[in-house]
Amino acid sequence: MRLVVLGASGGCGMELVVQAAERGWDVVAVTRPSSKVSLPAGVTHLSGDLCDPAFLTSAFAGADAVASALGLRLPGIAPWAKAEDPTFLARSTPAIVGAMKAAGVKRVIAVSAGGVGDSAPNVPAVFRAFIALSALRFAYVELDKMEAVYRASGLDVCMVRPGGLTHGPRTGRAAAMDAMRGPASISRADVACWMLDELRAPVFSKVSTLIGV
Ligand SMILES: NC(=O)c1ccc[n+]([C@@H]2O[C@H](COP(=O)([O-])OP(=O)(O)OC[C@H]3O[C@@H](n4cnc5c(N)ncnc54)[C@H](OP(=O)(O)O)[C@@H]3O)[C@@H](O)[C@H]2O)c1
Repeated sequence: MRLVVLGASGGCGMELVVQAAERGWDVVAVTRPSSKVSLPAGVTHLSGDLCDPAFLTSAFAGADAVASALGLRLPGIAPWAKAEDPTFLARSTPAIVGAMKAAGVKRVIAVSAGGVGDSAPNVPAVFRAFIALSALRFAYVELDKMEAVYRASGLDVCMVRPGGLTHGPRTGRAAAMDAMRGPASISRADVACWMLDELRAPVFSKVSTLIGV
């Protein structure tokens, strides 16, 4: 399996890279030039503009699948905190889809979030209120746009919707679920593990799903 990981410098992205390398997969870690990363031996690192179709097409050459952990960088969750690049997902996702088609890559699994799209009624009300009242609402608008572009792409897509992310250990207990209850948190390590497990199937079983432990 040759896997391209987008957003390899982020929390979920680095977990995807490390765990895919542990599985013996051929991993290409993609970041923007300013990202700070320390990668496992044997992982290929490419840096460039994640909205540039030519860069992305060359990064995807020979890949079996793309895993995206891209998101907005927020300076905090205060209601007035503005994302560093507020339209990044709306701009990068069409470029990613176009480049995948140009490179002949048919599968993409991407980190979205619990409460995005039709999952809103299936997350706790307190979770929805927290999003609506914090800067996370800006990220949710972009994740909605990201999902819509992937969904309309005709590619084999899986939008992964976790709850609150932690830096906890990998438990291997992550599972797809119809509704989130309780604290609705999950470690980045478990999110990555679940995503890599999904990639073992020849076709994704769900276009989008909540996941939790
Ligand atoms: N935090 C939560 O509790 C939570 C809950 C549910 C879902 N989510 C979603 O899960 C995603 C992944 O979580 P995470 O903690 O792994 O995120 P993260 O650590 O913030 O990683 C975000 C990644 O996106 C990249 N990125 C952001 N803006 C970019 C730009 N303009 N150009 C190129 N790359 C850019 C970052 O690169 P740099 O390192 O260069 O900035 C980084 O690699 C989040 O972004 C969010 O959408 C989060």
